Amino acid sequence: MPSLPVVFSGIQPSGAPHLGNYLGAIRPWVVEQAESRNYFCIVDLHALTVERDPAQLADQTRELAAVYWACGIDPAHSTVFVQSHVAAHAELGWLLTCLTPMGWLERMTQFKEKARGEQAERVGAGLFTYPALMAADILLYRTELVPVGEDQRQHLELARDLAQRFNHRYGETFVVPQPRIGHLGAGSRVMGLDDPTTKMSKTGGQEAGCILLLDPPDLIRRKVLRAQTDSGREVAVEVAGPGVANLVDIWRAVTGASREDAGRCFDGRGYGELKRRVADALLEVLAPIQDRALALLRDRAELDRRLADGAAVAQPVAAGTLARARRRLGLLSLPGG
Ligand code: AMP
Ligand code: TRP
Repeated sequence: MPSLPVVFSGIQPSGAPHLGNYLGAIRPWVVEQAESRNYFCIVDLHALTVERDPAQLADQTRELAAVYWACGIDPAHSTVFVQSHVAAHAELGWLLTCLTPMGWLERMTQFKEKARGEQAERVGAGLFTYPALMAADILLYRTELVPVGEDQRQHLELARDLAQRFNHRYGETFVVPQPRIGHLGAGSRVMGLDDPTTKMSKTGGQEAGCILLLDPPDLIRRKVLRAQTDSGREVAVEVAGPGVANLVDIWRAVTGASREDAGRCFDGRGYGELKRRVADALLEVLAPIQDRALALLRDRAELDRRLADGAAVAQPVAAGTLARARRRLGLLSLPGG
């Protein structure tokens, strides 16, 4: 039997998971999980790149795990675990940080955006070196495919460059991973409902523009009905401005409809009708996810047990790759180790 390709991806527990996380990442993971061997990580070390409330970080870590499973991540195909439970991530992260030229990191648009407006001197160094840790996450599992949203393309390119650089300098060690972005159609870049020129995100204070997966149904409906649209009055899918195009994309991603379907359904209709249809479609998909997530969150001990099981699967795989990298670099191992 040919072995299945390895898939790795992760989301930061840096706020409640939102619709962009679902459509850009979790849903593609779920749809394709049976065709690969998957590791889906809750990347808590990445969340520390900005200051966090400790109690909230712990809650959000569990909440994200519950959402993964509630969305349909299946333990038969996919290992779910917390990044900091597997110490190899931090260790390989350091080894790769030492291999990363400053110039590569300075080019990262996400860093430039996040650091903008803040006093550069006060931005944590982790925010700058974070792509090397992300590369470590991926490379530890000999990952072939990394399904993510469009915003992660540049970080993945850096992970590939680092794998190649290491292999070139120290000998063949890492598998060079491939990005998987947007191959299922709409959803790889969901924009804010209040400002369709910036991506939907859990930071940046765009509460009204961000649909959280566990938002109450009436709040979801209200957020969609208030979404910014274009200056016209009727939908024209092919020439829609950013607000209407985003709503159409969300509807397509949630229903699986094509652009042509969207044109047939909405061309010539009012924006109000489009919004109502988007809200209906969203609530239909999210209601069962919310029920399952809330049920999982009620049994914290069971949730923690499942995460421990995940770490136990991930740990030896990661340790094996780390040991190879250490040997290549000339780091001594302990006698008998
Ligand atoms: P983050 O919340 O930054 O940890 O992102 C986790 C995953 O969700 C990554 O694969 C991102 O590419 C994806 N993602 C985040 N925001 C969006 C968005 N607005 N649209 C599509 N995908 C997104
Ligand atoms: N950097 C990603 C984000 O913010 C999260 C992430 C960390 C990730 N490590 C990863 C995604 C490894 C894919 C693979 O969205």
